[in-house]
Amino acid sequence: MSSDRSLDRRIRIAPSILSADFANFGAECRAIEAQGADWVHVDVMDGHFVPNLTFGPAMCAAIRPHIRGTMDVHLMIAPVDPYIEAFAKAGADVITAHIEAGPHIHRTLQAIRATGKKAGLALNPGTGIDAVAHLIDMVDLICVMTVNPGFGGQKFIASQIGKIRALRALIGDRPVHIEIDGGVTVDTAPLVTAAGADVLVAGSAVFSGGSVDAPEVYGRNIAAIRAAAEAAATAELSTASH
Ligand code: DX5
Ligand code: ZN
Repeated sequence: MSSDRSLDRRIRIAPSILSADFANFGAECRAIEAQGADWVHVDVMDGHFVPNLTFGPAMCAAIRPHIRGTMDVHLMIAPVDPYIEAFAKAGADVITAHIEAGPHIHRTLQAIRATGKKAGLALNPGTGIDAVAHLIDMVDLICVMTVNPGFGGQKFIASQIGKIRALRALIGDRPVHIEIDGGVTVDTAPLVTAAGADVLVAGSAVFSGGSVDAPEVYGRNIAAIRAAAEAAATAELSTASH
């Protein structure tokens, strides 16, 4: 059984380039990393599993040289398996598939791990954590969707907070990150880190008001989300230890 108390659970901010300038992805990736982003989150949508279309492995390969850190690829596609190899070759560090994307998520996670990449499992807001128990030792990250996937800028679904807390208890000492995706802002970040999340995806809340010509706005947005998230995580830890 995999158990590792040493997993680094410091808060990570992962801006979603779904909210970036689509004509300027390379410069946008460089700008957010220079402004403090920990990971770069890439939302791949197929117009079938979700009602929106974005980009594929060729775009991931094109931006890879512009990302120094972790490229976090969120696959909102069905089927998933035929494309895993291509996203691995494109330079993804984390490849996340949805539990709802097909009947054989176990096989999908095996296939992701076989590429040597980190495997993520995403759960839609309507999906409970029961099935996760059978998959938890196959994953490096569980992504709790706090909006219905497909679009940036949607409202945070607060009913997911109890799910995050239950998931954190289920994970225990396992080296598995909890990532939150959707509607993360300065106001909602503390709710999810207090419940046990450590990776926060944020699209509109990072990119709004900024541009590659005014990247300091990205820096201020990232710093504000991080400060709110860390304060709540620290407060929770000190409550738990008393
Ligand atoms: C939604 C995507 C998210 C989205 C987040 O389907 O998976 O990553 O871009 O955007 P915000 O932070 O604007 O909700
Ligand atoms: Zn995403």
